[in-house]
Amino acid sequence: MGFPKGFYWGGATAANQYEGAWNVDGKGDSLPDHMRGGSFETPRQIDATLDAGALYPSHEATDFYHHYEEDIALFAEMGWNIFRMSINWTRIFPTGEETEPNEEGLAFYERVFDCCLAHGITPLVTISHYELPYHLVEKYNGWASSELIDLYFRYGKSLLDRFSGKVKHWLTFNEINVAGAPFGAALSLGTVQGYTGTMADLPNDINLRMNALHNQLVASAKLVKYAHEAHPGTMMGNMDCFILSYPETCDPADQWANLEGMRYFNWYSSDVQARGAYPSWARRMWAERGIEIEMQPGDEELLREGTIDFYTLSYYMSNVVGTHGTLEESAGNMTQGGKNPYLESSEWGWQIDPTGLRIALNEIWDRYQLPIMVVENGFGAKDEVEADGSIHDDYRISYLRKHVAAMREAVDDGVGLIGYTWWGPIDVVSAGTGEMRKRYGFIYVDKHDDGTGTLARSRKDSFFYYQKVIASNGEDL
Ligand code: BG6
Repeated sequence: MGFPKGFYWGGATAANQYEGAWNVDGKGDSLPDHMRGGSFETPRQIDATLDAGALYPSHEATDFYHHYEEDIALFAEMGWNIFRMSINWTRIFPTGEETEPNEEGLAFYERVFDCCLAHGITPLVTISHYELPYHLVEKYNGWASSELIDLYFRYGKSLLDRFSGKVKHWLTFNEINVAGAPFGAALSLGTVQGYTGTMADLPNDINLRMNALHNQLVASAKLVKYAHEAHPGTMMGNMDCFILSYPETCDPADQWANLEGMRYFNWYSSDVQARGAYPSWARRMWAERGIEIEMQPGDEELLREGTIDFYTLSYYMSNVVGTHGTLEESAGNMTQGGKNPYLESSEWGWQIDPTGLRIALNEIWDRYQLPIMVVENGFGAKDEVEADGSIHDDYRISYLRKHVAAMREAVDDGVGLIGYTWWGPIDVVSAGTGEMRKRYGFIYVDKHDDGTGTLARSRKDSFFYYQKVIASNGEDL
């Protein structure tokens, strides 16, 4: 028993948090290029118009654009056989509305894929990871408009047509289900037309959010259908931000509230993407929450015809749901929830729950029976650099050890788990807070919140630990 032979081990990044080079080689500005850095206490601000004196963390990030060869060599040194990365839409279509892709952008990703393949690393590519062209935010209010379906299709098709010989595994949208929460929706849907203000004061219109999500689900299905027809052998996946929640008590009211919460946040989008239709309970949910989905002719056929080949998720934490008014609030990934007295939290309030990962994987497998990849999991923490340059990040090692052990249990439970990519294996900008000091990496990058730093890379203790985990295929923990 244990992890199957050929299990995928690697790491995951997103273009806007990692690449930098925000305005070179024809790249346009995307939504995150308009977001300032914040912190746990201070929410990030979105600027409709860029302020020349302000610091926007995505503009340089940790500069994968100019360090990709060095970084991929380090990934190979850890023993990876997969690298999840994303394409920046605005490198390919700077405003999102051009009719032809930008060759310089395509050429950059071609060099990256070739470099991965030369190291024996399979690229796993997210087509859209929180980086909508800002022009589409301004003109269409992002995914609120169904015009984006064809613009996304043109973009995705250009990637598949160019790279399907080198890239077999694709994810259409990162964490598509975060549309369910106002904070996540701003990043994933870009429905912040004309907005200057903080991420805490975002407008909260559930009808708009769920219709914008519908547009993404249709766009995803349309591209999946095309990929299957035009590029047989391509593996197309969803990507959900899986936040397991537990009922606070055995009161049936708590049980029901939790079941509804799990449906709303975790199952709604993936039921569509894996099964090809909205679940039967969606109609009642829409009615009770004041949602009217503007279904266009042909949408239902597309959803039916564009189902995914594998299921992927991010998993960081779990939550608690209750109806007794006794729950303490806790912070979390893209959304908020209730505090669990049995769990410890990170400094950013994310509750650490490896057993929850085993539960989640079992539930997903029971529901869909599709191959599963955990494409994000990780621990954000401040690191201390010792005088000799070493970084002793046992907190990160401990998190990794427990989550790999939980995955191994799930594999032994019979779950069809095929891969694992740790989030931010090299330090990148935090999506939620825009900070550098919230680090996930096994590789440290000398880059700080004030924008200073040499961008030099160095190995933390966790680098060597992950190397050992991979070399033993998850046995030596
Ligand atoms: C996931 C996102 O929700 O969480 C990533 O897909 C993000 O983009 C990751 O970076 C960790 O969140 P944060 O806010 O700590 O960067």
